[in-house]
Order: sequence, then C-alpha cells, then structure tokens
Amino acid sequence: MTKPSHQDFWNARYASGQTPWDFNGIPADLQAFLKRRVRGSTPSGAGRGRVLIPGCGAGYEVKAFAEAGFEVVAIDYAEAAIARAHEAIGPELAKRIVHGDFFTHTFEPGSFDYVYERAFLCAFPPELRVPYRDRVASLLKRGGDLIGYFYYKNPDREEGPPYGFAWGTSDELFGRHFILLKDVPVQDSVPVFAGRERWQEQRRTAYTGS
Ligand SMILES: C[S@@+](CC[C@H](N)C(=O)[O-])C[C@H]1O[C@@H](n2cnc3c(N)ncnc32)[C@H](O)[C@@H]1O
Repeated sequence: MTKPSHQDFWNARYASGQTPWDFNGIPADLQAFLKRRVRGSTPSGAGRGRVLIPGCGAGYEVKAFAEAGFEVVAIDYAEAAIARAHEAIGPELAKRIVHGDFFTHTFEPGSFDYVYERAFLCAFPPELRVPYRDRVASLLKRGGDLIGYFYYKNPDREEGPPYGFAWGTSDELFGRHFILLKDVPVQDSVPVFAGRERWQEQRRTAYTGS
C-alpha cells in the first residue's frame, strides 16, 4: 500500500470515494473569518489579500475566498483531487489550482498574506511538520497569517491519517515563527475530527533564525 506522503495514496482515496475529511461546503469558522475580513481592514491594503490553500482537495474554499474578494492560489498533487475540484467549483475557479507539490513548487517567498489550513497538515506523518511550518513561514509575508483548522489526536485511536498533535506540541512547533492570535474549539467538525479540531489564527513573526 502507498504511504500518505505519496500522491497515489490520495488518488486512490478520491477514486474509491473514501474521503471522510470532505466537508462538502464551507465550515462556520471560515465563514465567520471571511465576513470579518470583508468588513474589516486587510494586511496588504488593496483587495482582501493573497491566500494560498495547500492540499486543497475538492477546493470549496477556493470558491469561498474568491467570492470574498481574495486572490486565491491553491495546490494539490493528486490528479483525482483536482478532478473532484473541477466538479465541485467548476473549471473556471479550478484554474486557480496548481497541480504540484506544496513543498517543492516554485512559489515566490514572502508572497502570501494568508495560508489556509484544513486537513492538510494532519494528512501526513509528524516528521513533515517542521518542513511544513518552515515552508508556510517562508511563503507568508511578515505579519501574514496561517489560519484554519488544526487536529489534535485522539489517544484511543490508532493514527495516521489523520495524524494529530498531542496537546502542547503544536505550540512548540509553531512558536518558532508564529504568535497564536486565536484558538477556539470547532463546533461543526466532520465525524473523523469531531471534538478534536480547533480553529486557529497564527501570525508570522519577524524571526528568521535557524
Ligand atoms: C485529507 S485531504 C484534505 C483536502 C482538503 N484540504 C479538504 O479539507 O477537504 C489531503 C490533501 O492534501 C493533498 N496533499 C498531500 N500532500 C501534498 C503535497 N505534498 N502537495 C500537495 N498536495 C498534497 C492530497 O492530495 C489531498 O488532496
């Protein structure tokens, strides 16, 4: 069997319809965030800002961010996910999805106001968390935000995927480059994440040391 760090694993999941993470819409905390942003100020001045959605899957949020006035770029390395996005959001919006690997694709460093996380970080094993954090930090502008959904592990459940954080370990990970601005429990999780998911907003600090 292929590993979750390989695209064939995800292609097989979409092809067989085994996608328990799929929200099939826009979760409430993101809806609230988008309403706040539409009414409020933006870090980049003009427009609502530029957002990256790594591992976007069916891409519902591509549509939501675009309709709220953000410049959206998404990326997924599974062809079957992109095909699903074409069905879910239509071919025009699906053009915003790059078919490629989040870790190696040539995005311009420091070019995003936001990175939106949902069910991506928990999709791969813990050894990829530091590379994920550093990659997100390098793609965000200073003062940009990593926002979205973070999964904390259920000790009674054999893991992987989803691979959750143990309590406290996410602070250790993100504290190097981010300040946690918001951290609230999620009320409308899909069953696989229920009771163990948090909406967080993490601000990129100026720290660049190694
Ligand atoms: C659990 S799914 C979540 C999809 C979507 N974020 C959602 O909330 O429905 C994980 C997704 O990440 C994609 N993925 C995993 N590793 C990736 C990587 N290194 N680069 C790009 N996409 C990746 C998979 O193909 C899959 O579509």
